[in-house]
Parts: sequence; C-alpha cells; structure tokens
Amino acid sequence: MQNSLPKKFDKQANKYNKLRTHDKTFKYRQKIFQDMHGEVLEVGIGVGLNFPLYNRDVELTGVDFSGEMLKRARQAAKEYPFKTTLIQEDVETIDFPENSFDVIVSSGTLCGYQNPLDVLNNFQKWCRPEGKILLLEHGISSNKPLAWLQKSLDPLAVKMVGCHANRDISGLVKSSKLNFAREERYLAGNVYLIWAKP
Ligand SMILES: C[S@@+](CC[C@H](N)C(=O)[O-])C[C@H]1O[C@@H](n2cnc3c(N)ncnc32)[C@H](O)[C@@H]1O
Repeated sequence: MQNSLPKKFDKQANKYNKLRTHDKTFKYRQKIFQDMHGEVLEVGIGVGLNFPLYNRDVELTGVDFSGEMLKRARQAAKEYPFKTTLIQEDVETIDFPENSFDVIVSSGTLCGYQNPLDVLNNFQKWCRPEGKILLLEHGISSNKPLAWLQKSLDPLAVKMVGCHANRDISGLVKSSKLNFAREERYLAGNVYLIWAKP
C-alpha cells in the first residue's frame, strides 16, 4: 500500500460525512443492502453511510485504513442499536479466519485496491458457505464514449481521490473465486450492484 493513500481518504472524510443527509447513492444502497443478519463484515466502511440499512441483530465489523473516516463512523455508530467493532487496518493485508462472516459488504472500495482480485478471493474465504457478498461499486461504463472518458481520466482520478474510474467490476468478480449470482447496472452502466456467493 502507498502510505499516502489513507491520508488521501482522511481528507475526504468531511465530504462523506455530509452525505449522511443527502446521499444520492442511497437508493442503490437500499436495493442491494437488504436482509443482512448475523456477523457482517463491511470493508472500507468510511463514515458508515450504510449504517441505516443494517438490521438490529447484526454484529458489524468495519475495516478502514483512514483514521478520519473511522472517527466519524465511531460517532455515528452510537445512534444505531447493532453491535459495531471498527478496525483501522488495510483491507489488502488484514486477515480473518475462514468462515467468519454471514455477509460481506463493500460499497465503493474495489476501485481503490492495488489487487482487487486478491480482496475478492479473501471474501470467498472469510464468508460462510451459506453467506452472501453484496457489492455496490462504480466502474467502467457500458457507454463507449463515457468509457473512453473514464479511461482517459483514470490517472487523474487516482491522483485526486485515490480510486480508479475504469475498472470492469463484473469482470473482476467473475474472474474471482466468488460465485456471481446476479447484477444490476445503473447510470450508463457506471454503477454496479452485484450479488455473489462464496
Ligand atoms: C470511496 S470511499 C467509500 C466509503 C463507504 N464504503 C461508502 O460507501 O460511503 C472508500 C473507502 O474505503 C477505504 N479504503 C480504500 N482502500 C482501502 C484499503 N486498502 N484498506 C482499508 N480501507 C480502504 C477508504 O479509506 C474509504 O473510507
């Protein structure tokens, strides 16, 4: 991991915190983050914008390498009834025992990892056989001119906000060890909702 990456996300923590009251992606979060029970892992949890969607019986483990994001998530978690453990670690190097979680959640993190395939393969290991993996990601558009623009602007996106704009998220999941169940795409195919099994 580049040491500068967590700092890049630290600087965006206030911006994410403000989204709590007017998050344009909330309708997509509601579509995919349903029926989550038991032990849940959320990677790259940020300030906790998915908190409103967790059932009260959930035991949530959240991982993020940004201390500033986690500070805001910790504060927000006090408003919710479920048990939360927040860990400041790199998702690409952290490890959990096999079959630790019933659900694994990621929103907007696969764009940031150096090796997203390795992270997806770890989800397969960490998730219980009957569990599920729910992904809400952004990536390469199905619209050709837009995809061209995303490819051109990718180096700038990485420099500015630390994430790639041009990843083929479906392709990544399909080439991982996960079982791809189904997907929905929105906004010219730029938004990916993917349901997968370990
Ligand atoms: C685009 S933000 C999304 C935050 C949150 N998931 C949401 O939906 O609002 C990406 C988050 O993932 C975290 N992140 C990115 N790469 C990470 C890594 N390798 N390890 C831990 N956290 C990471 C960032 O610090 C940031 O909080």
